[in-house]
Amino acid sequence: MPNVTFLPMNQTVVADVGDTILEVAISNDIPLQHACGGYCACTTCHIHVKAGMENLSSMEEEEEERIEAVDRLTTVSRLGCQSKIQGDVTVEIMNVDD
Ligand code: FES
Repeated sequence: MPNVTFLPMNQTVVADVGDTILEVAISNDIPLQHACGGYCACTTCHIHVKAGMENLSSMEEEEEERIEAVDRLTTVSRLGCQSKIQGDVTVEIMNVDD
């Protein structure tokens, strides 16, 4: 089963193939924000994929359009609620509560 490592807390958890990054975060009490509830309608679940981008589902049009609105947009930006896990991945949460 795939391992997902969340930064900056550096916490690694086990996921099922097909789970989204958001689903795995919620089930492991990792504070990944999700203001819209995971419907690709906000940007609070923004992550940077530090390793394993090839192990996430590819971006669909809805996510491509939505992600334009994030702060600190990079080529490794994804929305956690739209990224389905297919293998090991390391992601950095961009909206961390202080
Ligand atoms: S939780 Fe709102 S876009 Fe992901």
